Amino acid sequence: MADQKATNVHWHEGDITREHREKTLGHKGATLWFTGLSGSGKSTVAVELEGTLHEMGVTSYRLDGDNVRMGINKNLGFSAEDRTENIRRIGEVSKLFVDSGVIALSSFISPYRADRDQVRELHEAAGMEFIEIFVDCSLEAAESRDPKGLYKKARAGEIKNFTGIDDPYEAPGKPEIHLHSDQQELAEEVQEILALLRERGIINA
Ligand code: ADX
Repeated sequence: MADQKATNVHWHEGDITREHREKTLGHKGATLWFTGLSGSGKSTVAVELEGTLHEMGVTSYRLDGDNVRMGINKNLGFSAEDRTENIRRIGEVSKLFVDSGVIALSSFISPYRADRDQVRELHEAAGMEFIEIFVDCSLEAAESRDPKGLYKKARAGEIKNFTGIDDPYEAPGKPEIHLHSDQQELAEEVQEILALLRERGIINA
């Protein structure tokens, strides 16, 4: 975990709590953490889920690797250290969304188990829901999709440290949800996630 650098800082409590905001919104805040290879379908599932939740009147917000790396994390690359910092920051941002009562749909390769577990611990320590969704897909399937043409470049040696090619991916041991995006239909995947959200009392629609 990152060390606290600034001294003489004090948490300023407000009057309106997460519970107040959740009451206004009519559902609970939670982080749904999608992890998997590039091209595994994390963002596709998150986009579909976001649309379905929206129609149900549930407020969610997508945080996506490529998008976040063009903004708050534009100063980070793909070394192990930078990926760890990428996930740490997004973990904190996700927590802010949960605190606001929103469902954060965070899709990042997040290849290191320790980084994901750290985000889980931060949520649990704050009494926040953290649901890890493993978007499992064979490397062969992800590579054959190659939506951004990056696997081709990585195979040609034009991109170094590409996850699955010359950089590791550590699969989750006990994810709350284990999707097989190379075998399941998108609608089925979304329904599986909605079922867990209902079961946990995060949504009641
Ligand atoms: S993570 O490993 O730090 O979690 P993140 O999800 O933010 O990665 O970003 C991954 C996206 O960056 C990929 O979907 C791909 O579009 C792009 N990318 C560029 N270079 C790499 C690389 N070396 N490894 C993995 N993804 C890369």
